[in-house]
This record gives sequence, structure tokens and C-alpha cells, in this order.
Amino acid sequence: MDQFLIRGGSRLKGKIEISGSKNSALPILAACMMAEGKTTLKSVPRLSDIDSMLKLIGELGCHTYRHESDSESTSGGPALNGPLDITVTDEKVCEARYDIVKTMRASICVLGPLLAKRGKAIVSIPGGCAIGDRPVDLHVRGLMKLGAEFHTDNGNIIGEVRGRLKGCRMYLGGAQGPTVLGTINVLCAAALAEGETVLVGAACEPEVVDCADMLNKMGAKIKGHGTPEIRIEGVDKLIGCEHRIIPDRIECGTFIIAAAITNGELELKHCNLDHLIAVNDRLEEVGIKVSRENGTIFVSSTRRLNAIEMTTQPFPGFPTDLQAQLMALLCLSDGMSVITERIFPDRFLHVGELNRMGARIRKEGPTAIIQGVKELQGATVMCSDLRASAALVLAGLVAKGTTRLDRVYHIDRGYEKIEQKLIAVGADIERVRG
Ligand code: EPU
Repeated sequence: MDQFLIRGGSRLKGKIEISGSKNSALPILAACMMAEGKTTLKSVPRLSDIDSMLKLIGELGCHTYRHESDSESTSGGPALNGPLDITVTDEKVCEARYDIVKTMRASICVLGPLLAKRGKAIVSIPGGCAIGDRPVDLHVRGLMKLGAEFHTDNGNIIGEVRGRLKGCRMYLGGAQGPTVLGTINVLCAAALAEGETVLVGAACEPEVVDCADMLNKMGAKIKGHGTPEIRIEGVDKLIGCEHRIIPDRIECGTFIIAAAITNGELELKHCNLDHLIAVNDRLEEVGIKVSRENGTIFVSSTRRLNAIEMTTQPFPGFPTDLQAQLMALLCLSDGMSVITERIFPDRFLHVGELNRMGARIRKEGPTAIIQGVKELQGATVMCSDLRASAALVLAGLVAKGTTRLDRVYHIDRGYEKIEQKLIAVGADIERVRG
């Protein structure tokens, strides 16, 4: 297994190009299974989770081809990834096997598209996850309301549709609020259902909007995406289209915090600050300056970081996917900060590792109380999940001495070329091949 060796203390300065969004690309790739003809996706990041999704839709009869480079890249930075063509060539297989689902929970995204287009889906039930329980009951409930029938067998969810799915008005929220991938699954299925579907309590995340925008290019009739009430007028078929994936707001937020924690100055290209409005709000209070010009974000910080309070919430609130990274920053703030995790109340595996680096964090239920310290020290720490790992990279960048990060495959799932991007702006980070 690869490791990262990070020698802390460098001030980051320079330009970083933000990649396309992992969490947008994954469900969009699954949605491509519903289209006739070729779909071309641009800005799909090169990540191990994307490779897993390509393998999955490949097994489900899609032919995929990645072009060498993106002719529309005008940034002068590193060439963007080439467009990805997806064409459905065989609709016989309807099963997402455990071997793939166990490596990537987002495999559940094929459920809605398979039911809507092929009338049948067998998807291995995703098991436990490092960030807590991640049930899929809301996905199944929403699809049942559209008329799909479900049973479980041998660790699989088996769904079938007699005739065609039928649109209806439904409430999609759960105890923890809206579900992002659940909304996308039901939205996809409703796009090909008979009649009108109204999703009340839908997730408003930019990734939901991106998927709906692509489906509309394919001929779907979706309105209200980006609000809690989405209206979908079902159509008979969807036709392949061309679509560029939105920039990765979580990668962007992680690099904003990288600039802040190293007291650096970064220019982040290809981002949408509107997708980070709550993050910007909290960081301003910490004392970080973030400004934008067209699609570029400029970040600078002061040496003194203020302690703050933050609660994770569904969009447009502060995203759970940046909670760990913000915590790494607040470890060095002047005073006591409080972070409450409302989406995944157990998502705190980074706390113990940050404390090994000299942080003073105490966890009380879904809340972490962070007493700012003067410095962090390098240590050997272990990645437990994607965003916790990003937090440890950030801590390593500023820690005194060397940080050795084990199990960086977690980072490779969601951050494209992270060490190369950081080295280019002055970080001292090395990948040690395992
Ligand atoms: N929930 C249910 N039942 C369901 C589905 C969700 O109770 O059927 C609960 C969850 O347990 C959680 C809350 O609803 O408490 C929200 O979960 P959601 O369904 O929105 O999460 P997700 O769609 O499975 C996506 C991202 C996650 C991100 C969450 C929240 C992808 C591939 N994953 O997951 O990203 O944390 O939304 O924004 O898009 C990551 O990138 O590191 C990551 C974990």
C-alpha cells in the first residue's frame, strides 16, 4: 500500500486546477445507461472510484472510451482529462455484483437507471462504512412509490417493474434530511416513468442539479432541480448528449483550507464559489480571505486563525465532506471551536489521528470540541476514509517534522493527483510506493 511522506512547514503559493466533481460524475455515469446512442462526458476526473464505476457500467453492457486530451482546455495549466464516450451496447445484464459494490457504495446509483430502462435490477446491498451507517431505504422507498417491487435475497436488493414505472407525488426525506444519491436515483427513474413525478424533500446539492441538467440535455423534462421540490414529466426515451461535469467543490474547499493552514496564497482555477457559500462564510470568520474573478478563486490568510462554531448541513449548508478538513484548520486556531456533524454523526475517525499529531480535540456525541494549539507535530497516521485522509494531509503540511500517512488509497478514491497538485505549489510531499 502506498504511503505519503509529508515534511511540513512549506507555505503554499501558486495555481491549482480543480478537477471535475467525483460525486457528480459517479451518478451521471450510471444515468448514461438510460440513453440511446453515445453520451460524451467532459471533465470526468481520473480516480479509482471512477474506475470502479466504469468497470461496473462496463459489466452492465456499456462501451466506454476515454479520449487523450480535452481540446477546449484553455487554462494553460495541466491538460484536462480527455472526454469520455459512453455507449450502451447490451442491455441483458442487470446485476451490480458484491465485488464492485463493496469497493464503492456509489454503485447503488445504477438501481434507478436499471429499473427505469431495463425493468430489472439486482444490486448487492452496500455494507457498513467507515463514516457510519449508510442505509439505502430511502432509495428503495422512492422507487417503490414509482411502482417498482423489491425483495432481498442472498445479500442483494432485487427490484422489478411490471410494465412501466408510474409518476406520483412523494416525500423523499428521511430522519437525517434529504438524500443526495437517493434523490438522483429516483429522479433518474422518474425521467422515464409514465406521467408526472413530484419529489418533495429532494436534495438540493449541485451534484443533483448537474445530473438533472444532463438528463434534460438527453430529452428529459425536469424542473425545480436545486430546490426541495423537483417536477419530472416522464418521457419515452433519452438520447445521448454532450455534457461537462461541474468542478469538484470538495476538492476546491480542501485546497482553500490548504492555503489557509499553510498561511499561503493560492489561485484555484475552474471552480464555482456559489457551491461553497457556507464554507466561504465560515472561513471568513476564521480570518481567511477568499475572492473570485470569473471561474478563479484567490485565497490568502493571516497568521492568526479565529476559533469558530460550525454545523454540517445539507446544501447550501456546510458540507459534511469538508468537516474533517475544517477541523484540521481549527486545531491551530486561537481559542476553542465547536464542530457538530448532523449528516453522518459518527464521521469523526480523524479525531484520534489529529490528536496523535498534537491536536486537542474532545468528542461528545455528534460534536467535537477543538482547543486550538500552537503547533502540530509530524507522526505516523492512518487514513480511514477519503475526507479524513484529506484532513491528515492538511495537518501534515503544517506540522513540525515529517508525517507518514498510511493507506493513501483512500485519498486516491477522490482527489485527482493530489500530491502532484500540492508539489506544484510548494508542498514537500512524496508518494512512497508500497
Ligand atoms: N440516509 C438514510 N437512508 C437512505 C439514504 C441516506 O437514512 O436511504 C441518510 C444517511 O445515513 C445520512 C443522510 O441520509 O445520514 C444523508 O446521506 P446521503 O444519502 O445524502 O449520502 P449519499 O448520497 O450516500 C453523498 C456523497 C457523500 C456525501 C453525502 C452527503 C456521493 C458518491 N457520495 O452520499 O460523499 O458525504 O452525499 O453530502 O455522492 C465523499 O465524497 O467522501 C462522500 C462520502
